[in-house]
Amino acid sequence: MSMKRVKTGIEGLDEVMGGGYPAGTNILVTGASGTGKTIFCAQFLYRGLRDYNEKGIYVTLEERPEDLRNEMLSLGWDFKKFEDEERLVIIDAASTRSGLHTREKYTMPKGFDIDSLVTEIYRATKRIQATRLVIDSLPSLELRVTDTGQIRGIIYRLSSLLLEIGVTSLLTTESVRPNMISRYGVEEFVCRGVIIMDLEEKGHDLKRTLRVRKMRGTKHTMRKLPFEIQQDGIVIYYHGEQY
Ligand SMILES: Nc1ncnc2c1ncn2[C@@H]1O[C@H](COP(=O)(O)OP(=O)(O)O)[C@@H](O)[C@H]1O
Ligand SMILES: [Mg+2]
Repeated sequence: MSMKRVKTGIEGLDEVMGGGYPAGTNILVTGASGTGKTIFCAQFLYRGLRDYNEKGIYVTLEERPEDLRNEMLSLGWDFKKFEDEERLVIIDAASTRSGLHTREKYTMPKGFDIDSLVTEIYRATKRIQATRLVIDSLPSLELRVTDTGQIRGIIYRLSSLLLEIGVTSLLTTESVRPNMISRYGVEEFVCRGVIIMDLEEKGHDLKRTLRVRKMRGTKHTMRKLPFEIQQDGIVIYYHGEQY
């Protein structure tokens, strides 16, 4: 029996991963600022809604929902429409964190913890029957602990609860040191999949690449996949060999 798959929403990515993400898994999306993590994750939700009738939750910790909606509109993605249809929920965990007033319907209170975040995610998921989830980004949770074991524990708890809820989730993080692939150095061990996004210098240009570094439960290419952000989103323009 073949495993149920969830389409990635990225042209060219399903093909090198056996048809999509294993359903119900959680995946870390990592890379420096500007490498396209937010767009990659938003496209997962957008295409899910547009093409597969799969509902989504976007937990935004870094950008205000208003800014996110506008950025997505620049790619022709009308998130507001899906929200109005109650097929998409954006949970605003950014505004109160930065002390800003918010008129959003779904918000997190100042100083919220992981458990209350998961409770809110659970509620929203059940409410609209969502199967896709994005948390952007983990470092913005500003975990006020420095002990690696403790951080690992917290992220492990978050990822276990998400697995329990049963959604397929993408979590973003950002490496701050060149020899590390994540912010805390533990996320890649906790998550069941890891996708690394990068910008590489080529002559006077910067080229975008992504790589599936780990994806439990499926065969996948280990190849660096060059991609572009085009008018309506991310397109991998070189498929390479079949895995
Ligand atoms: N409408 C667009 N068309 C083409 N490229 C875009 C568009 N919007 C943003 N970008 C590119 O995407 C980058 C931001 O991507 P983003 O997903 O926000 O990165 P990250 O979340 O990794 O910081 C911008 O710096 C820009 O290069
Ligand atoms: Mg981002």
